[in-house]
Amino acid sequence: MSDNEVNKFVESEANRRRTFAIISHPDAGKTTLTEKLLLYSGMIRTAGMVRGRKTGKKAASDWMAMEQERGISITASAMQFEYKDRIINVLDTPGHQDFSEDTYRTLTAADSAIMVIDAAKGVETQTRKLFKVCAMHKIPVLTFINKMDLPARDPFELLEELENVLGIKASPKNWPLGSGKQFIGTADCETREITLFEKAQKTGADIVAAKKISFEEARNDKDIKSDLFSQLEYELDLIAEAGNRFNTDDFLSGDITQVFFGSALTNFGLEPFFDSFIDTAPAPRAREIIMPDGERKELDPVSENFSAFVFKIQANMDPKHRDSMAFARVCSGKFERDLLVNHERLGKKIRVSRSLRMNAGERETADVAFPGDILGLINPGVFSIGDTISVDGGFIFKPLPQFSPEVVARIRPKDIGKRKSFDKGLLQLGTEGAIQVLSTVGSGHTETVVAAVGKLQFEVLQDRMRRDYQVETILEPLPYEHGAWIVGPETGFKKPSRALLATDTSGRLVGLFYTEREKDFAAEQNPGFQFLNFSN
Ligand code: G4P
Repeated sequence: MSDNEVNKFVESEANRRRTFAIISHPDAGKTTLTEKLLLYSGMIRTAGMVRGRKTGKKAASDWMAMEQERGISITASAMQFEYKDRIINVLDTPGHQDFSEDTYRTLTAADSAIMVIDAAKGVETQTRKLFKVCAMHKIPVLTFINKMDLPARDPFELLEELENVLGIKASPKNWPLGSGKQFIGTADCETREITLFEKAQKTGADIVAAKKISFEEARNDKDIKSDLFSQLEYELDLIAEAGNRFNTDDFLSGDITQVFFGSALTNFGLEPFFDSFIDTAPAPRAREIIMPDGERKELDPVSENFSAFVFKIQANMDPKHRDSMAFARVCSGKFERDLLVNHERLGKKIRVSRSLRMNAGERETADVAFPGDILGLINPGVFSIGDTISVDGGFIFKPLPQFSPEVVARIRPKDIGKRKSFDKGLLQLGTEGAIQVLSTVGSGHTETVVAAVGKLQFEVLQDRMRRDYQVETILEPLPYEHGAWIVGPETGFKKPSRALLATDTSGRLVGLFYTEREKDFAAEQNPGFQFLNFSN
């Protein structure tokens, strides 16, 4: 193939790809929606098999449970499948208690996000946190207001909440016809075409049949109660007059979200949502890179040679393989196995011959990949989070953020003789980004403490220490719940008495505080210093 033909091929493959994450508060319906995406893509024939989660102990990842139960192509980190001639890459962002920095970083590998909101609850804490990260990275967000088959809050009130709480303009694409038991369809806000759904099957196991009728036909449809219709007409008029107009540029820069209403359980409104999503959500776009002199440029996904960055490292996913896997997001060009690439951090060339994707729970060699795809790279100590690899070399992608810790603890090996394995384990888990390893400063002897964004990370840490390094550990939680990177002059920082100062593995100063108020107070007392909630 000539260069031109290769470019054309990469362009058409890149344009087919939609790489996104689904973000939500626990129980809003992310798992159900993901499952239905598989149902509508033809990956599974019936939905509703991931049951009993409330009864038994929840699986480490819902996706892993799905994988085991169905034997389909899912990994704990990314899942690839086709939906109507598009290639979908869904990234897993656990929004549950196992919420961690990993979740945040994974979002940097996404080109867009679907935000699932429970129609009765509105915007909840975890959604807010995840949304903030999307906003920080200017990731376009589409909103699916779920559970419309149950008593729901007023749709206008929900839109207002998106605007007030998240600070994003909301533009409804469709509008619910009724809610709760009376939720029978949706109307397109622009064309007013109405989609009426066949009576719900209780489980939503199969694709739901839908009938499309015009607004005028709906006016005389005997299945639509006249008061419901009048209300819909009134509301659509209101939206036409005062609603936010959707605009692709604003959407791509993260200033406006397109909103859909539906029910993931009964499948109402799903197909219109998925169809609209694959059209509206962006294909892989140019990404910012940093040149050695600090200059920032945009890297075109199509015309440039292969490049990728590592956003996650996971060790021992398969107990049969004791190595760790680096997950890399392809940003430009075509990847072919055995490619020789520049590893910027190490300043050397490496051959990528062990490139994988996970298929049906099995590791499968990935011979080719395109922008938007996620590669699993076997990592014999070569990769760290944030690493850039590229054929041309000479640049890095923007460093991945670290987030200020919310839990801090002292940790030591139970058996002092295991110190060496303990140190090795801590170093590895720090590299993976599972936890942050900090060294205290200023209080006589230096002590190692661990910090993380979610409590569950400590359980993971102790479990991994036990399984992978054969070290039993003693963990003593410390009362610090608010942290910040402190940037400023070398001296002169006034430390509040209850605060703890430490340095991270890159030598940056971190302040740990009991309360948000104490952190704010420390910031006020030290006007010459910046307090950062995430570090780049
Ligand atoms: P999550 O991944 O965001 O945590 O949410 P998940 O999909 O697990 O959904 C949480 C609960 O809400 C599940 O019920 C699920 O069946 C239900 N649900 C999801 N979407 C809808 C919807 O559109 N309408 C209604 N009525 N319910 C919905 P559960 O009883 O907690 O668990 P399960 O035993 O049904 O799995």
